[in-house]
Amino acid sequence: MAKVSVTSVELPPRPQLFDFHGVSMTNIFTDNWENIQNFQARPDDILIATYPKAGNTWLSYILDLLYFGQTSPEHRTSLSIYLKVPNLEVAIPSLQQGTEMLDNLSTSPRLIKTHLPVQFIPKSFWEQNCRIIYMARNAKDSVVSFFHFERMALIHPEPGDWNSYLQRFMEGKMVFGPWHDHVSTWRKKKENYSKLHYMFYEDLVEDTGREIDKLCCFLGLSPSAEEKETILGKVQFDKMKTNDTVNHSKYRGMDLKKSSFMRKGKVGDWKNHFTVAQNEEFDEDYKKKMKDPTLQFRTEV
Ligand code: A3P
Repeated sequence: MAKVSVTSVELPPRPQLFDFHGVSMTNIFTDNWENIQNFQARPDDILIATYPKAGNTWLSYILDLLYFGQTSPEHRTSLSIYLKVPNLEVAIPSLQQGTEMLDNLSTSPRLIKTHLPVQFIPKSFWEQNCRIIYMARNAKDSVVSFFHFERMALIHPEPGDWNSYLQRFMEGKMVFGPWHDHVSTWRKKKENYSKLHYMFYEDLVEDTGREIDKLCCFLGLSPSAEEKETILGKVQFDKMKTNDTVNHSKYRGMDLKKSSFMRKGKVGDWKNHFTVAQNEEFDEDYKKKMKDPTLQFRTEV
């Protein structure tokens, strides 16, 4: 079948959530399931895993620049991030599926985006001992960002109003399942899988240079001071917001009248959304679900 571009595709109606092996999902991320599960990872593949809205695009762009920023031919520099770092699980009707895009990717290493909970990761990633980076973001800013994203992202379910959305987030009825399980089970994986670098969005906001140094240490990269400076300049929020290759502004699947993909890029925007009562209820619920004292999030920096 001829594939059309993501900038011109006719989109299907907004999908519905359904239970998929105990996790809420939509068909956009499960239709290609057999190929996802049978995906053949290569030893040098790098998986960039996050719960939705934890800064996957930011991290993907940082990695793209670290690996290919110096060597990229002009045509590659102008490619959208979703082509350079394909999403493993995406399967939008009449568009290339994530696995197909990855099979055709000519870079080495391949940078691969995923939002899958850890139990859904294809087994070849573990067998090939691939490097995996997981970035987590605090629950309150995640739900706010997800809400605005689902208002605009037409391949996601309708979010409804903010209050019911927040309730649904607490119930874990979100695409890719409960935030609490996602961040906790990925964290637990670190105990028996050493090639997993677990990092936090808040730390990346606080000191991008320091976090890039840690990433380089994990990846075995040693960019020059000049290269690092260049990367730091390019990955600032304001720079990315006006960069069409990462701001998704050309992507038909987003209604930019409702919100923008590069929305605020802040820690603490939740304070502009949560009422006092919502915050108290959220904190109560959070305490019950997040028992691991070693997994602490900052809701302000
Ligand atoms: P907000 O909606 O809070 O602004 P993802 O790429 O996983 O979908 O995550 C998107 C979130 O990461 C958005 O959060 C977006 O603004 C934020 N983000 C992207 N690039 C960023 C940057 N350079 N600095 C800070 N936040 C960034």
